[in-house]
Amino acid sequence: MTYINNTLFIGKVVIHLPRLDSTNKYAIDIISKNKPSEGTVISTDNQQEGRGQIGSVWESQAYKNITLSVILYPKFLSVREQFALNRISSIAVFRLIKSYLPKKEVKIKWPNDIYVGHRKIAGILIQNALHGQGIQSSVIGLGINVNQKRFYSNAPNPTSLQLESGEEFNIKQLSAELCEYLEEAYLKLKQQQYAELDQFYQYHLYQRNVSCKFVTKGNEIFEGKIKGVDATGRLCVKKAGELVYFSFKEVSFV
Ligand code: BTN
Repeated sequence: MTYINNTLFIGKVVIHLPRLDSTNKYAIDIISKNKPSEGTVISTDNQQEGRGQIGSVWESQAYKNITLSVILYPKFLSVREQFALNRISSIAVFRLIKSYLPKKEVKIKWPNDIYVGHRKIAGILIQNALHGQGIQSSVIGLGINVNQKRFYSNAPNPTSLQLESGEEFNIKQLSAELCEYLEEAYLKLKQQQYAELDQFYQYHLYQRNVSCKFVTKGNEIFEGKIKGVDATGRLCVKKAGELVYFSFKEVSFV
């Protein structure tokens, strides 16, 4: 299968399976077996053991949502630069959602969730295979809530395109558009257009410059304002007049 869109490589090969445990797991398996071409997409109508961040589970009702993984070989990136993949994936998903919800407040919640208002509409799980100082392969797992209206897991504040707009969407068409946005951002990254990508990501960051309560891994609760995200992906928070930096998992919103 292939998507009908204007990309050069992302979504030119689509392995679509009616049912799958996890598209990320399947993608990782086939990379090790037969090195699929760059841009190959694994998608399913019914993902039964969707993987989320920090070992969580990703809920997705059959036939209702986008659950797909894109295989990339970003050999031009070093391990230290791997956050760039979170940045471009967030930008791609953000742009897709925003194109259908132009009047809503759509934001990128660090490191790579997409929110509408204070509700999560999409999650991203990136699994990289490293080789020395480089990235050998990357699986970009994208879960976007599209037509699902009820959520049963303990996912915090989920929402979907249908809940936000009252409309029903064509999953395949949206997936094809998502590939276009992802390819555009990936090619910008490859062409080293870092400033543009970084500015876009920072500008749309959830709760930037808003006073918020955070909790650290060590259970310290403090108030601060998000100022941005540095090149390595650390969240920069102004706390009591001082800038402090947190890696993923070191801090979360209360
Ligand atoms: C998160 O916890 O926010 C990340 C969720 C990522 C879910 C997607 S759905 C497609 C891909 N396959 C998986 O098993 N997970 C990702």
